Amino acid sequence: MSRFDQLASEWDLRPQRVQSAKNVSQKLRSLIPLKDQNVLDYGAGTGLIAFDLCEDVHTVTAMDNSHGMLEEIEKKAQKAGIDNVITLYHDINDTHLPKQQYDLFVSSMTMHHIPDTKAFLKKAKESLKKEGYIAINDLESEDGSFHSMGNDDVAHFGFDKEQIKRIFEELELEVVFMDTVEIISKKRDYPVFLIVGKNV
Ligand SMILES: C[S@@+](CC[C@H](N)C(=O)[O-])C[C@H]1O[C@@H](n2cnc3c(N)ncnc32)[C@H](O)[C@@H]1O
Repeated sequence: MSRFDQLASEWDLRPQRVQSAKNVSQKLRSLIPLKDQNVLDYGAGTGLIAFDLCEDVHTVTAMDNSHGMLEEIEKKAQKAGIDNVITLYHDINDTHLPKQQYDLFVSSMTMHHIPDTKAFLKKAKESLKKEGYIAINDLESEDGSFHSMGNDDVAHFGFDKEQIKRIFEELELEVVFMDTVEIISKKRDYPVFLIVGKNV
């Protein structure tokens, strides 16, 4: 059982997580006209972003490699009578994504758990239709103290957002937004960036 399987049933009890997802969704609404899109929420967890966006778009596919997290999404969807959030087990370290399927790829606080950042972003880009968008929300460089349960499944202590921007440019993703969008306050402050690119 992974750390995320163990945390799944209590994930939404931390208000900061719920609020962060709302902030990301709100920012995306201001940058991208949302209407009939098929969205992929990668590393969706309990689907905080998926459920925030699902009323604005056609479908949201919520992928994750934690069965516990996917079960939480299914319970929440059933309870709320939501039928356009689709869950799919997927491990990005092992498998490609369907090609040219999605209008928006969004991933929040997941990339730091994935060892090969460039391979992850390349697979994300390949999953996009032309003119589709990619949005990555994650920690800026930190000192390894963010995860209080230890760093066993942490591949990166955050990121230099300029480096992520360079990878976007190498992959021919036009950067339409990049900034620090949140500070998570624990024992110290942890800035979080959002970068949004377009598959031109
Ligand atoms: C920190 S949580 C973020 C969850 C959600 N996006 C949120 O912001 O509340 C990271 C998520 O990424 C998932 N994850 C980690 N490594 C993964 C991988 N290799 N493939 C797919 N999902 C992964 C975890 O299971 C977990 O649900």
